[in-house]
Amino acid sequence: MNIVANWSYPTAVKLGRGRIKELADACKTLGLKKPLLVTDRGLASMAITGHALDVLEEAGLGRAIFADVDPNPNEKNLEAGVKAYKDGGHDGVVAFGGGSGLDLGKLIAFMAGQTRPVWDFEDIGDWWTRADASKIAPIVAVPTTAGTGSEVGRAGVLTNSVTHVKKIIFHPKLLPGVVICDPELTMGMPKAITAGTGMDAFAHCLEAYSSPFYHPMSGGIALEGMRLVKEFLPRAYKDGADLEARTNMMSAAAMGAVAFQKGLGAIHSLSHPIGAVYNTHHGMTNAVVMPPVLRFNRPAIEEKIARAAAYLGIAGGFDGFYDYVLSLRAELGVPDNLTAMGIKPDRIDELTAMAMEDPSCGGNPVTMTMENTKALFLDCF
Ligand SMILES: NC(=O)c1ccc[n+]([C@@H]2O[C@H](COP(=O)([O-])OP(=O)(O)OC[C@H]3O[C@@H](n4cnc5c(N)ncnc54)[C@H](O)[C@@H]3O)[C@@H](O)[C@H]2O)c1
Ligand SMILES: [Fe+2]
Repeated sequence: MNIVANWSYPTAVKLGRGRIKELADACKTLGLKKPLLVTDRGLASMAITGHALDVLEEAGLGRAIFADVDPNPNEKNLEAGVKAYKDGGHDGVVAFGGGSGLDLGKLIAFMAGQTRPVWDFEDIGDWWTRADASKIAPIVAVPTTAGTGSEVGRAGVLTNSVTHVKKIIFHPKLLPGVVICDPELTMGMPKAITAGTGMDAFAHCLEAYSSPFYHPMSGGIALEGMRLVKEFLPRAYKDGADLEARTNMMSAAAMGAVAFQKGLGAIHSLSHPIGAVYNTHHGMTNAVVMPPVLRFNRPAIEEKIARAAAYLGIAGGFDGFYDYVLSLRAELGVPDNLTAMGIKPDRIDELTAMAMEDPSCGGNPVTMTMENTKALFLDCF
């Protein structure tokens, strides 16, 4: 089935195969005449990126690119990007890539006009009001993975290269003005990235659904997001060219990010420090710690997960859901535990302290303490 859709929720989203050809129009909608395309180093040399630049150039918008972006991007990447943006006299950003390229592109558009350091805009209380909102440049987002949902999010994740801590930078205007979800762009993802990013989308839905705050809208979106992952992630993994599966995974990714406005939990508060210290893939790390976190949260979410299992067509309530997660992981080649991921438990106290500082920690259904979080970490090895 060829799915095409235009949504205005939570921003303008243009979903469907081949729609990258609308990139120049998307820029013009936001008044851009000289956009800077921001992506990561790996994507810079790929044909999909060259094609996106062609579309911009043919419409008279130039073909400027900044790609000095690491996976788990940091403030040095951001500084270099802001410099490239200013030097080039750009008037907006095309954030192109997985979460790394998307987040860094969004943050360049945000920081180009600010005078305070980026860490002043961490997602704490009303810190975002410190920003001069009138100086935030327009953003067009083009995801090339189906996982983070950063294309429909109001945050960017930035790793501090000195402290190795991942910080969430938040501003409502970090939400891109137009999003192009073209599933053809995701076809070339290596299998491990399809698996890892897809499991990130699943983790967003699962944690948002499980988090105790009152937000039924988010709960509904998260449930349907999990259903899409269940039906389509194994298909996208098995056959990367299955465009129906790829399209539905793009939807699931966006749904995860919309849903997690409600909150995330221990999966993310554990995986953020691991990713920041060991530079592991974010979504794959989430998938690795997911079963121990489910066991940890069981007393608080057993009934809720049984309801989700029923919706997903899984028999056996919480236990059935837990077994399903194990079998999904096995199908996608996810390492069994952190040891299998190549990590040693020698920095567990440090990781525990970092997990306790992570903002996702507060959304976990079972209150996290130093003691139980350390035990949870040990359980992940
Ligand atoms: N802003 C948010 O709300 C949010 C949410 C979750 C995660 N994140 C952040 O996003 C980052 C992870 O993003 P990600 O999982 O999408 O991975 P990524 O952006 O780091 O990309 C992973 C790898 O896949 C490659 N790649 C991307 N698209 C490809 C394609 N179509 N074909 C071939 N290769 C491709 C990249 O070059 C890179 O090497 C982390 O920094 C994480 O903290 C942000
Ligand atoms: Fe995530």
